[in-house]
Amino acid sequence: LVLGIDSSTQSTKALLVDAATGEVVAQQSAPHPDGTSVDPRAWLEAFDQATSGLLDRASAVAVGGQQHGMVALDDADQPVHDAILWNDTRSSGEARDLIDELGGPDACAETIGSVLVASFTSTKLRWLRDHEPDAAARTRRVLLPHDYVSRHLTGGESFTDRGDASGTGYFSTGKDDWLPELAESAIGHAVELPRIVASSEVAAKTSGGLIVGAGTGDNMAAALALDLGPGDVVVSIGTSGVASAISESRIADGTGSVTGFADATGRFLPMATTMNAARILDLQARLLGVDHDELGRLALAAPPGANGLTIVPYYDGERTPNLPDASGTWNGLTSSTSREDLARAAFEALLCSLADGVDHLVAKTGITVGRILMVGGAAANPAVHAIAPAIFGRPVTVPAPGEYVALGAARQAAWALSGSGQPPTWSSATAETHDAEPTPLVREAYAQLRDRTIPWSTSTTPSQK
Ligand code: XUL
Repeated sequence: LVLGIDSSTQSTKALLVDAATGEVVAQQSAPHPDGTSVDPRAWLEAFDQATSGLLDRASAVAVGGQQHGMVALDDADQPVHDAILWNDTRSSGEARDLIDELGGPDACAETIGSVLVASFTSTKLRWLRDHEPDAAARTRRVLLPHDYVSRHLTGGESFTDRGDASGTGYFSTGKDDWLPELAESAIGHAVELPRIVASSEVAAKTSGGLIVGAGTGDNMAAALALDLGPGDVVVSIGTSGVASAISESRIADGTGSVTGFADATGRFLPMATTMNAARILDLQARLLGVDHDELGRLALAAPPGANGLTIVPYYDGERTPNLPDASGTWNGLTSSTSREDLARAAFEALLCSLADGVDHLVAKTGITVGRILMVGGAAANPAVHAIAPAIFGRPVTVPAPGEYVALGAARQAAWALSGSGQPPTWSSATAETHDAEPTPLVREAYAQLRDRTIPWSTSTTPSQK
């Protein structure tokens, strides 16, 4: 048996899996504080709770986690500051400064594979240097969220993988290695970085002899679980919205709409990420006083286009497009707008924003889309099944609901355990395919409102204006 962990933005999930078949034997989860800046020690408590009774049944374990977050530790291994997470936009000015220092957006993408936005770890280190200089000066070691949990598990070993490392801003996807000088220039002094370990390797062993795999970022872990093939595009609707695909070659997109991450298998995982995904539905459900199931039922009772109500959902700042100071826009409210329209407009906004992400991905990678695989909590909602194919203009495939991040981490643990050059072959998840009449007018209304909204922000990077 192997154990896979998803240390996510909201909770920790643990999946005990049969290493030979990939069948889930047991699963547990534990909540931890949700936000954009949290005490990372809460993740360790949630980890202990979620893995209690499961760890001692496993032969190997690996930790997947939210990408990018800054965990800065002092000499005594204590956090010098709360972890500042991927969804915290306070360092958007620092992102612009660091892009300039690297020679502009194209040079930045060439050096690290991506154009920096506030999500990236290096921008948070620069923020710490400038706003909390004492904490910055005390920082000896910088880890990503999943590395911090692995360090707890192994009693003090620091390691990561190339996938999560590629979201720091101080890793070269060309050299496949750290650029420690960029971490140093971000925070103002040299810091210790974790050792980079391949998915096929044993990263460490616990005092009890349990094999620990490298772990990886949540999107890389999900890609490993779904065993993506050529033409597969994953659309994930979690706290963040992600459109991603496997690429054999590295991507360096100087416009910044696609981040050219490395994956957990030695290839690449280019990705367009939105900061507003499940929260679009959360807000509407809260305003209407319903849960997500009822929100979906209401949405399906309204016609496509929600009787003219269009929402651009950049509620808490956005990242694709790069508008860290944006807020949302509702357009077309009338005195006959119904609860059903309000619900429908939320699903359409979410899916139009994700369809923009798929378009960016296709434009920058040149892939020919075969399947669109929808995962994440909201992918189980019948309104998504009905509305997504209409917005995307093609069928969508929805794998059976599951914890794909934790499953991918489990597959990585099984890979490290096997000592083989390839991950184990597990039977793929059962999936349903949904299709619908395309509704191009809905996307057009959205695109018009989006394009009117963008000039409101003063924070677009020059390349994105
Ligand atoms: C990807 C990103 C998010 C987080 C969510 O760049 O920031 O998808 O990984 O946990």
